[in-house]
Amino acid sequence: MNNILTIDGPSGVGKGTIARIMAQKLDWHLLDSGAIYRAFALAVDARGVDIGNENALEKIAQTLDLEFKTEVGSELVSVFLDGRDVSKTLRTEQTGEMASKIAAIGVVRGALLKRQQDFAQAPGLVADGRDMGAVVFADAPFKVFLTASAQERAERRLKQLQAQGTAGIISQILAVVVARDERDCSRENSPLKPAKDALVIDTTELSIDEVVAQVSELVTKS
Ligand code: C5P
Repeated sequence: MNNILTIDGPSGVGKGTIARIMAQKLDWHLLDSGAIYRAFALAVDARGVDIGNENALEKIAQTLDLEFKTEVGSELVSVFLDGRDVSKTLRTEQTGEMASKIAAIGVVRGALLKRQQDFAQAPGLVADGRDMGAVVFADAPFKVFLTASAQERAERRLKQLQAQGTAGIISQILAVVVARDERDCSRENSPLKPAKDALVIDTTELSIDEVVAQVSELVTKS
């Protein structure tokens, strides 16, 4: 399929926000691939499976009962795992940490690959994650890689938490951001790095509107 926009980058860079806005603007489908890894981590945790047991992990990935539901007239996506709404638990730092550990395992990435590729449906797809442009949709015509300093990403995360009514300590958030980057960048399987043909945008000094403008230009000019 020709209409695929991939948006990759480290945690807290704002991929999700930009992807959501772009999907709305283009009226394309949206894939939050991080949510798949997070839901998978919750499923593994709920079943009490050791993450060293690759056979069991592969089986869970192949049979994951996962559904994304968007309410009509709302941009909010609810995530259902085994028929249960896990949207809130999915977003916690603890789930992000578990997801990041499990996402480093090759058999897991392989087993979740097709599930992600199946999101490529007409009229188009905006996919955000770590390896959307480099691996999952390597043939996508539009690829973006967002970066921002770790300090800026920690501050954005803190604002996000505060908006949800949760307190946070900037030094702790920064430590989590740096540790997650380290793991995502240094793993052997699909390490976090821009696809060769991706437009890299440093968003440290940019507003959301400015990033959206650059991404929109990439999609519309070709
Ligand atoms: O993007 P998000 O923070 O929701 O992702 C959670 C974790 O899932 C990331 O830290 C990363 O390790 C993993 N992930 C991945 N590949 C993706 C999306 C997420 O490895 N495409």
